[in-house]
Amino acid sequence: MKESIKIILVGTGNVAHHLGLALLDAGHEIMQVLGRNREKTKALAQKLSVDFSVDFGGLDKIADLIILAVSDNALAELAGKIDPGKALVVHTSGSVPVDVLSALPNYGVFYPLQTFSKERLVDFSDIPIFVEANSEKNVRRLKNLALQLSPKVEVCDSEHRKYLHLAAVFACNFSNHMCAIAECLLEKHGLKFDHLAPLILETAQKAIDKKPKNAQTGPALRNDQNTINEHVALLADHPEYQKIYSFVSKSILDFSAGKKCDGLAHIQGDENGEDIK
Ligand SMILES: NC(=O)c1ccc[n+]([C@@H]2O[C@H](COP(=O)([O-])OP(=O)(O)OC[C@H]3O[C@@H](n4cnc5c(N)ncnc54)[C@H](OP(=O)(O)O)[C@@H]3O)[C@@H](O)[C@H]2O)c1
Repeated sequence: MKESIKIILVGTGNVAHHLGLALLDAGHEIMQVLGRNREKTKALAQKLSVDFSVDFGGLDKIADLIILAVSDNALAELAGKIDPGKALVVHTSGSVPVDVLSALPNYGVFYPLQTFSKERLVDFSDIPIFVEANSEKNVRRLKNLALQLSPKVEVCDSEHRKYLHLAAVFACNFSNHMCAIAECLLEKHGLKFDHLAPLILETAQKAIDKKPKNAQTGPALRNDQNTINEHVALLADHPEYQKIYSFVSKSILDFSAGKKCDGLAHIQGDENGEDIK
């Protein structure tokens, strides 16, 4: 029979929200939600139907696992503030090394690679989870827990996790920013962003099916200087977007010429299903 783990969830933001729901769904016990803002902490605790606290000094010592789902820059401070006893303490950040928790006896990382927003539903069973810990035993514990949420679980050290996060910023945050610029331009000219929906969806699906380097189209790839110049001229009122347009167009052209990312060849996906480390 699957063991129910006793968990303290620290943080009230996007990740705490989704991870809390997924852990409850997997049959684990969230003993309490711990946060610094009483209203937000109470709201998440009510959503999960669990207790809450705003007292970082009074952690329940019978917890098995403490999840620090807080802002990256708060992790060092929190690690010094809490007394977890023997509980395994993990953070959920893509970019912060595991060592930020090294003053604690049992520590690790539980990084779900997805973009989380509270108001969006996510299917945790489709999310890759990358774990790391200070001992083999703790790695096993985190792997076991992660496998209850998703079949896509890998051990990944802090160094490689940084590159996962960097790649995620390109694939998610920058792509979304490009869409935000597109939205601004359309709105300014009385056109609907919705017209782009099929294009955005097909772009994402094609990148996955064909690999992005084989899926590129457009004026930059064709080195169509007439269209490129016309687009730059249309952006005369937006010098910042002009710079982005020209810079990204050059990158597309250079990339297609070489069809590889020089200097990054050693960072590859885990196509063989082996741990990345
Ligand atoms: N969102 C994502 O897509 C995503 C994906 C994977 C991993 N992550 C990682 O997961 C972690 C949480 O991200 P998130 O998106 O959930 O962030 P978030 O929505 O901005 O929530 C951050 C939480 O941290 C709390 N916090 C900030 N500073 C604090 C401090 N000094 N002491 C105590 N609590 C503090 C905030 O409290 P207040 O509300 O009181 O400010 C809030 O509850 C981060 O490490 C992030 O890198 C995020």
